[in-house]
Amino acid sequence: MRRPLVAGNWKMNGNLKSIHALVEELKRGIDQVGEVDVAVMPPFVYIPEVTRLLKDSRIAVGAQNMSRHAAGAFTGEVSGEMLKEFGCRYAIIGHSERRANYGETDEKAARKVVGVKERGLIPILCVGETLMEHERGNTYGVVKRQVDAVLDFFGVEMFRGTVIAYEPVWAIGTGKTATPEIAQSVHSFIRDRLAERNEAIANEVRIIYGGSVKASNAAALFAMPDIDGGLVGGASLDAREFLSICKAAAQ
Ligand code: 13P
Repeated sequence: MRRPLVAGNWKMNGNLKSIHALVEELKRGIDQVGEVDVAVMPPFVYIPEVTRLLKDSRIAVGAQNMSRHAAGAFTGEVSGEMLKEFGCRYAIIGHSERRANYGETDEKAARKVVGVKERGLIPILCVGETLMEHERGNTYGVVKRQVDAVLDFFGVEMFRGTVIAYEPVWAIGTGKTATPEIAQSVHSFIRDRLAERNEAIANEVRIIYGGSVKASNAAALFAMPDIDGGLVGGASLDAREFLSICKAAAQ
C-alpha cells in the first residue's frame, strides 16, 4: 500500500502575517486528518519561519526548487544542504512554471532529481503536457519524454523514494481539472513505464496529481487506483480547503 501524500505548493504567495495565520490553522486542524503525509512548500525566505512554527507537527516542509550543486558561485540559487539545515524534507523539481519561465529542461530537471536524492531529500518531479500538446493528442509522448529523461540517464533506481507529480499545464490555476479518468490513465501509463524497468519500484512510487485540485474534486481524483495524493496550488493557501483535501486523501 502506498501512503498518500498531499503537498501544498504556495508558489510566490503570502507574507509573514498571512503565513502565520495559515500555519496556525493547519496545525489546529491536522489532528483530524488520517493516514496521509502532508507537506507545505513556502517561498524560500519563509522556510525557516515555517519549519520553526511546524517543529512539533507532522506537517513536513519542502522547497519549490533546488540547485543541483552543493555550493559555489551560483547567484540566486539555494542548495540542498541549506534546505536540510532548515528542516526541509521535499523539493519540487521541474514544475511547469519553472520549465516555461526559467529554462528548466528535461535534462536539467533530471540532474536536479539526482542532486535532491544525493542530499537525502525527497524529489517531487513534475511532469505534464501543455494545452497545445494536449489538444494535439501528445500527452503520453510528452510525459514519456519527461520521465525517460531520468530513466535513460540515471536509471530506474532514481525513482526509489521519488514522488512524481502529474500536472497537466492546462489544468494549473485554470479551474479546469483533468477528469479522474484522464488523470488515472496518465498515472497508470507512468507506472507502467517504470514497471518495464523495475516492477517493485513502479509499485512503490507515489504518483500525485496537480492542477486545480480543490476540496470539491479531491475525493473523486484520489479514489483512482494510481492517484496517490495531490500537489495543490491555489487551494493550499486556504487552510480549511487544504485540510479537506488532506482528509479526502486519507480515506
Ligand atoms: P493549482 O492548484 O493552483 O492549479 O496549481 C497546481 C500546481 O501547479 C501545484 O504545483
